[in-house]
Amino acid sequence: MITLTPRLQAVADYVPSQCRFADVGTDHAYLPVWLIGHGVIDSAVASDLRQGPLDHARATAGLYGFEDRFDFRLSDGLAAYVPHEIDCIAIAGMGGEAIRSILSAAPWTMEHTRLILQPQTNIPELRQWLTESGYRIEEERIIREENRWYTVLLVSGAADDTRWTPGTRLTGNPLRWAEDSDRPAYLQFLLERLEKQIRGLKQASEPNTQRLTALTQAKEELTLMLKNGKEDLSCQR
Ligand SMILES: C[S@@+](CC[C@H](N)C(=O)[O-])C[C@H]1O[C@@H](n2cnc3c(N)ncnc32)[C@H](O)[C@@H]1O
Repeated sequence: MITLTPRLQAVADYVPSQCRFADVGTDHAYLPVWLIGHGVIDSAVASDLRQGPLDHARATAGLYGFEDRFDFRLSDGLAAYVPHEIDCIAIAGMGGEAIRSILSAAPWTMEHTRLILQPQTNIPELRQWLTESGYRIEEERIIREENRWYTVLLVSGAADDTRWTPGTRLTGNPLRWAEDSDRPAYLQFLLERLEKQIRGLKQASEPNTQRLTALTQAKEELTLMLKNGKEDLSCQR
């Protein structure tokens, strides 16, 4: 059976047993093949924007004898889905902007649907958009894979009154952090990146003072988070 990378394993860990599952942007379909192979689900919808990745998905499913457990769909986001036919959707390995546009076009995902999102870029913007658009970030995990960090968001359609600050937009709401032993190392990574950005801004001939203020506030927040852990909270549950 397939061994998932830690990133995809973190996504798989959020999939409830026997849900009606869809993998949007499936590419090789490693995730749904693993879920079926481990008896988490009996069948899955696997969709992709492009035919090439969908062919890869079919090939992987065939390799494990699972082709008849799959409904393969060529689909831009959730366009080829009927609202509510699915109750758990994974969207992994895509930019935050693409995830936002997929969800914006399918508001039915705000009702009775578990979303497992693994954005590659624009994560602070996606967090804020989600909570301002009727979604709730239930939990966040961070995963270290070789020299890269990944974020996995478990999202539902419910009210989320998180008040974002420059720091929490970067780290997520500390009250929703999963117990990740790598969290301090991740905060340290973010802090060092912030310090580098601040140094760069200060050296500019005309520093962007608004951005400098936000980055400096974020740095102060992250320093406190590292010192005090979850107890120092600058936002509400
Ligand atoms: C980097 S791969 C990620 C594959 C897998 N989900 C993973 O996390 O390993 C991104 C996949 O998303 C697909 N994709 C990009 N935009 C999409 C969209 N709007 N709707 C469906 N699939 C999309 C791409 O064709 C590609 O196969």
